[in-house]
Amino acid sequence: MKIIKAKDYNDMSRKAANIISAQIIMKPSCVLGLATGSTPIGTYAQLVEWYKKGDLDFSEVTTVNLDEYKGLDRNNDQSYYYFMNDNLFSKVNIDLERTFLPDGMEPDSDKACADYNKIIADVGGVDLQLLGLGHNGHIGFNEPGMAFEAETHCVNLTESTMKANQRFFASMEDVPKQAYTMGIKTIMQAKKILVVVSGEDKAAIIKEAFFGPITPAVQASVLQLHNDVTIVADEAALSLVEV
Ligand code: F6R
Repeated sequence: MKIIKAKDYNDMSRKAANIISAQIIMKPSCVLGLATGSTPIGTYAQLVEWYKKGDLDFSEVTTVNLDEYKGLDRNNDQSYYYFMNDNLFSKVNIDLERTFLPDGMEPDSDKACADYNKIIADVGGVDLQLLGLGHNGHIGFNEPGMAFEAETHCVNLTESTMKANQRFFASMEDVPKQAYTMGIKTIMQAKKILVVVSGEDKAAIIKEAFFGPITPAVQASVLQLHNDVTIVADEAALSLVEV
């Protein structure tokens, strides 16, 4: 496990984008595993900037995202597809036919998850998986206690997650109650993993997940067992550990 200390959020974003760029340059037809959330937004913005300068070419890249809300279609501005399109896909020369997320509009959970596992297998697995880190150590929607053996599965969102999401929807009725997510097993099969973390509010979970015991209670702790993990975190996020 390699930890790269960045000065601040912008520096973290640049360093993470550099690692993703290196992957694309070394293997133009690579498969990138992507994440949503606030942390990678700067990383995507940096990649877009380098693409616009002519330094990056996404034409052969395939992407598979970690997760998607069940019941939201792609045009819903809260869907993860919308987020990816807004932050990256619509701004670079990626072939949209090669951008994949779990199908939030598939009502049959077993089918949606099996289909997504097949997509990941068919594209040949993930070369580089980008991850954010939840305050409780979650990665994707894999919440504390979930079995490390899981592949793509459907999760029931916790009451607190639904309440937090309520502000983005017209009413509580419209808030998604479930999501499809890659499981820990799927994530651990990626050849390389890149975790981006920023802010003092993530300092305690960095210490617990990467310097504490490996336990399903802290899902990200399993990354200690992967043989190619790079964590790019800013000084604030690393303030409780010695690097
Ligand atoms: C995103 C995802 C989540 C986030 C995590 C951190 O696709 O699956 O696990 O990476 O919740 O979110 P932020 O970056 O908003 O702190």
